Order: sequence, then structure tokens, then C-alpha cells
Amino acid sequence: MTEYAIRMEHIWTSFGDKIVHQDINLCLEHGEILGIVGASGCGKTTLLREIVGLQIPTQGEVFVMGRSVKDVTASHGKRLLNNCGVLFQKGALFSVLDVFDNIAFPLRELGIKDEEFIKRIVFMKLAMVGLSAQDAWLKPADLSGGMIKRVALARTMVLEPGLLLLDEPTSGLDPILSEDLVGLLSQLHRDLKFTAVMVTHDLDILRDLCTKVAVLADNQLVAFGTLASVLSCKHPFVESFFHNNRARRVFQYIAKDGVYAASPQGAGEVQEVSHG
Ligand SMILES: Nc1ncnc2c1ncn2[C@@H]1O[C@H](COP(=O)(O)OP(=O)(O)O)[C@@H](O)[C@H]1O
Ligand SMILES: [Mg+2]
Repeated sequence: MTEYAIRMEHIWTSFGDKIVHQDINLCLEHGEILGIVGASGCGKTTLLREIVGLQIPTQGEVFVMGRSVKDVTASHGKRLLNNCGVLFQKGALFSVLDVFDNIAFPLRELGIKDEEFIKRIVFMKLAMVGLSAQDAWLKPADLSGGMIKRVALARTMVLEPGLLLLDEPTSGLDPILSEDLVGLLSQLHRDLKFTAVMVTHDLDILRDLCTKVAVLADNQLVAFGTLASVLSCKHPFVESFFHNNRARRVFQYIAKDGVYAASPQGAGEVQEVSHG
């Protein structure tokens, strides 16, 4: 059997009487980028938390890199988390630490003491997310929204995770900063080839970055597959989210058979197709 990067089998989640997930099943191959879409409160963040084992489903099983998240022992669990970079929506930086110490944090937490080594890694990651060496000495309060996301991303990537989980990475960013971040994620993915799962409502991300799209509605996964296949789903939420005027403009070059008329790779590379 193929070892998927992520396999969710018959996931049911409830909090008290409230059912959030009702029999969710999905598989994601290595190197894919999954975009999760759904109304607020439908259980997207909970699904991410279940992938890293921060939340245990009421029923069903989650496998990450072939291992059951439920079964891994505490030490294995730690290793699983180390191979998993998480950028949560509210995962703010530590405000008392400067950028350098924020990015160094996961390394120090692992018990790494070699400050020269830490320095090399931190400056490498800073450059990787497009920040300068001087930025290392700023405190979070002195950073713009876009810089905060970049620092948080650098911290997430510091242990070179095989799996990256992002909860609404572009929320709160203006369109230009958001496009920058998408370009950065796209470039990092090309270079590092991680698997990623992100909650996003950003149509450009879904088109340019995601290899698969999952739509949560009515407690279920109502659509899952390539964007082209999701676009042909008739569920009312899919209709309203993917077929409004703005979405139609963004997705106009995606053919029904899944062949992109515009480049699906990388933000800013999408070319206009002439209809002459
Ligand atoms: N730890 C928890 N205890 C009780 N209810 C929770 C908990 N976590 C999430 N929920 C509820 O589950 C539902 C889904 O939450 P969440 O996954 O955060 O939604 P989304 O990310 O799609 O907005 C919400 O109604 C939320 O209030
Ligand atoms: Mg959420």
C-alpha cells in the first residue's frame, strides 16, 4: 500500500453534543499542498490539530507518514511534531523575544547548545523568508504584519519539517503582502518539497499553490480533489464559494478536464490566455 503523507480514516469529532466532523476520509501524497476551505466554525482548525495530534478525534484514525497519530508514544509523538511545522492563525511570536530568539526557539527547545550553529541556521532561515540580517534584532512590536508572518514562517521551517500546516496564512495581510507570501511559499515548496496542509479562503492560493482542495460543509468533506474537480461539485457551499463573480474571474482559465490554461505553478506566473 502506498504510504501517504497524510491519511484520515473515518474521522468523527464532537465536542459535547456538538458534532463537528462526520466521517471525514482523505489521503494526501508526499509533496502535495492541500487547501482546506469551509465556513467559519466548520472544523478546519480542528482538522489541522488532529493531524498533529493536538486533538484526538472522537472516532477514526489519522496517519501521518504512515504512523497512526493516536498510537505514537510520547517520544515518537515528539518526533512527529518535530517533523511537522505548524503556523497557527493565532500563533503569534513571543513578544519579549527578538526575531533571532523567536526563530532560534525550536532549536533551543530541542536542547541544541551550539550558539554558532544556531546563528548559522537562524540567519539562513531569515534570508530564506526574504528578511535581512538586521531584522534579527527587532522585537515583534516593531514588525509589519507581513514581516511577522515571515518570521513565524521562518520559525516554523527552522527544523526543516517534512510536513507544514498553515492556518489561514494570509489572513490579515493586504493583497500585495498576501501575494508576496504566496510567492514565498511557492518558492519554498519548490526548493524543499515538503507536504503542506493549509486552511485558506484565498482563491489565488487555491489556484496557484494547492494541488488538492478539500471542502468542509455540513460536518462532511463535500468535495476533495484537484481544483478542477472541486469546481464541478454541485454542493451549495461550493457553488457559492467557487462560482461567485470574483471566483469566476480567478478560475476562468481552469478547464473542466483539469488542464490549466494558465500556469498552476507559482504566484505571479499566471499568464493571460488570449482568446483570439
Ligand atoms: N476544544 C474545544 N472545545 C469545544 N468546542 C470546540 C473546541 N475546539 C473547537 N470547538 C468548536 O468546534 C467547531 C469547529 O471549530 P474550528 O475547528 O476552530 O472551526 P474553523 O477553524 O473551521 O473556524 C466550533 O464550533 C468550535 O467552537
Ligand atoms: Mg479556524
